[in-house]
Amino acid sequence: MSRRRPQLTPWKAAGTRSEDSRDADEVVRQTGWVFNNETGSKLSLAQFVATGDLEVRRYLKRWKLKDTASTLSILEIGSGIGRMTAAFSREFASVVATDVDAAFLERCRETVARFGRPSHLRTAHIADGHTIPVSDASVDVVFSYITLQHCSAADALKLTKEAFRVVKPGGRVILNYRRKVWLDALLLPAGVVVRTLFAAPQVGERLSRWRWSTRLGWQANRVSPAEVFEFLMSHGVTVNDPHLFHHRSRALPRTSVAGIEVPQHNLDVAAKSHWWLTAHRG
Ligand SMILES: C[S@@+](CC[C@H](N)C(=O)[O-])C[C@H]1O[C@@H](n2cnc3c(N)ncnc32)[C@H](O)[C@@H]1O
Repeated sequence: MSRRRPQLTPWKAAGTRSEDSRDADEVVRQTGWVFNNETGSKLSLAQFVATGDLEVRRYLKRWKLKDTASTLSILEIGSGIGRMTAAFSREFASVVATDVDAAFLERCRETVARFGRPSHLRTAHIADGHTIPVSDASVDVVFSYITLQHCSAADALKLTKEAFRVVKPGGRVILNYRRKVWLDALLLPAGVVVRTLFAAPQVGERLSRWRWSTRLGWQANRVSPAEVFEFLMSHGVTVNDPHLFHHRSRALPRTSVAGIEVPQHNLDVAAKSHWWLTAHRG
């Protein structure tokens, strides 16, 4: 599969490394930077999860989910080894962690067993990179962070549509994307070259050990709010009450849905290169 779907290769290589590691603390030292950009020979799973706890607290507060979370179910697209999933399992009545890499999901179960509530967790493998294997209208909230930028644009759009399929009518979708920045003129072509090298026997395994090559390899797409809404509309998805969030210094281009301009908001904790969509399923 990885040869035909090169954008999945760096993740699968990192997943394999996490599978080969002795314990979860070693996984964090070897692949934790894949998720939160922190490096160091003394990092531990506890510190790694603490970064996720902090972010979950921020986002639940920002999107006013803190008080109701304990009655809701959430599905996380791209959970990785569970950096944020542990906090989701503590805050929500149930959580479905999904990822393209099955080894990450295995590690995610370990992370939640140590730092979350394992009885609240279920995992689902997105084997093809774009189909979420859960039933229609089965969760209250769908959340994704630093994942949709790492798929092909086609997969990012399909996963967005999937988010609206699996969320219940009236349920909430909260998705994070990356926008174009000038550096992309270099990053995106370099990413194509690195992903091709990842597919080569032995070379890929070696590249997956280094931060520079993995970071280049995962640079896969930038989609705009207009592209996302156009895709959803063209597939008959009804999006209610959409809102866009961005860093205060980076307003997004004006975007309309069904002739109504989508409101934009500052999200100070957002990375400058990120944008977020929140909406309800119609
Ligand atoms: C940067 S990590 C973020 C993980 C987690 N959201 C966090 O904040 O720690 C991106 C994750 O997306 C997963 N991923 C990449 N492409 C994917 C796809 N097409 N479908 C599902 N997951 C994908 C990777 O395996 C990886 O675990």
